[in-house]
Amino acid sequence: MSTLAVPAAQTSAQDAELRFPPGFWWGAATAAYQVEGAVAKDGRTPSIWDTFAATPGRTDRGDTGERAADHYHRYLDDIALMTRIGLGAYRFSVAWPRVRAAGGGINPAGLDFYERLVDALLAAGIRPVATLYHWDLPQELEDAGGWTARDTAGRFADYAAAVAGRLGDRVSMWNTLNEPWCSAFLGYGSGGHAPGRRGHRQALTAAHHLLLAHGRAVQALRAAAPRSHVSVALNAGAVRPVTDTPADHDAARRIDGLLNRLFLDPILRGGYPADIQADTATITDWSYVRDGDLAAIAAPIDALGVNYYQPDLVGAAPAGQVDTGTPYPTGEDIAFHPTPGPTTGMGWSIDPTGLRDLLLRFRRDYGELPVYVTENGAAFPDEVGPDGRVADPHRIDYVRAHLAAAHEAIAAGVDLRGYFVWSLLDNFEWAYGYSKRFGIVHVDYDTQVRTLKDSAHWYRDVITAGGIPLR
Ligand code: FCB
Repeated sequence: MSTLAVPAAQTSAQDAELRFPPGFWWGAATAAYQVEGAVAKDGRTPSIWDTFAATPGRTDRGDTGERAADHYHRYLDDIALMTRIGLGAYRFSVAWPRVRAAGGGINPAGLDFYERLVDALLAAGIRPVATLYHWDLPQELEDAGGWTARDTAGRFADYAAAVAGRLGDRVSMWNTLNEPWCSAFLGYGSGGHAPGRRGHRQALTAAHHLLLAHGRAVQALRAAAPRSHVSVALNAGAVRPVTDTPADHDAARRIDGLLNRLFLDPILRGGYPADIQADTATITDWSYVRDGDLAAIAAPIDALGVNYYQPDLVGAAPAGQVDTGTPYPTGEDIAFHPTPGPTTGMGWSIDPTGLRDLLLRFRRDYGELPVYVTENGAAFPDEVGPDGRVADPHRIDYVRAHLAAAHEAIAAGVDLRGYFVWSLLDNFEWAYGYSKRFGIVHVDYDTQVRTLKDSAHWYRDVITAGGIPLR
């Protein structure tokens, strides 16, 4: 796709800024298990991530979220940091294992914590954006089959109703699920995420039950809080063929189908992509899709959230090369290639054109839905310098370039309403443990001391200006 020019009217020659629309939400995001700690406090029960992280060999150096950034106890200090940065919105996740009581039912003490958090955010003038599921399934539900069990979708709707019953009048936007692709395909397919199960049939089954959980939660949220603004955060990607050959184009079609259309089509069009159903017919007959499911999944939503980090460059694997560990059902003969150019501390390629293309594609293929970038950011090996400063110029460059790409999409007509940098705080980066720092705020895990990185100061200037300096 060619680069879209930003109309001259949008760029002020004087201060050389790209301005975002008035009312744009400038936010930052975290997730419960990655920041809260306090895993046994106030009736919280174990989640699949507690179990997974405690299993030898599953996370870097055996790291767990037991203490994390201790946000459960320090949330007021963290809100004070948000105020210093000038955030207009904070995307956090509600831990299902805090809200679900052991054995079932509701644990009011879990809801109390999120009520304190939401009220403190509102008092600080910060919009609360709540994600209901950021990967921390209660272990008791996993023991009953987890996302491969249809019943889990119903339990999720009960949980959504309980949270909305308590907080529905105060939460600015809901994300039902965070990145269901990861929950299904990493959790139940390749096994790299909790609960660490491996099998492509069960991964597709889990994907369907996650989608059903989303649809039922939308319904539960609207019933409990009719004015809810409801969304879902997908790790949709810009999937590109590595060459122009038909085989590489077909690999891109298949990955696009499993990463993007498998989730977007049922949610926004009410049906699964026929090509993907045909591709996967060798491993499942899709009989877990029951009458009425697709209508439930397609319950209208108010906005789409997208978590974007890097594009995917794919092609047909050379003959004889088989990727036995692929999370993609039937993807053993597909190869992923590095995008030429710079990478982050995760080894992820830095290519903001993917974000622009993705936002434009949503509009082209799925219509005029409001969109939020619910996550975008980069890990780098940041350190506190002798002067107490954390210089992270690469993160500033990354965020600036992605904001510029988002701005291009807005200029081309995409209804982008907000941007959430991942992450507010350095945190537990899943299987990578504490080895990867994504925060705009540095966390010393021994002392829990927070230090605003240069990127946090820069982001404050962006928020104050309502746009980005072009250098
Ligand atoms: C996303 C997750 C988030 C964080 C970032 C780096 O896939 O939603 O929790 O780990 O990646």
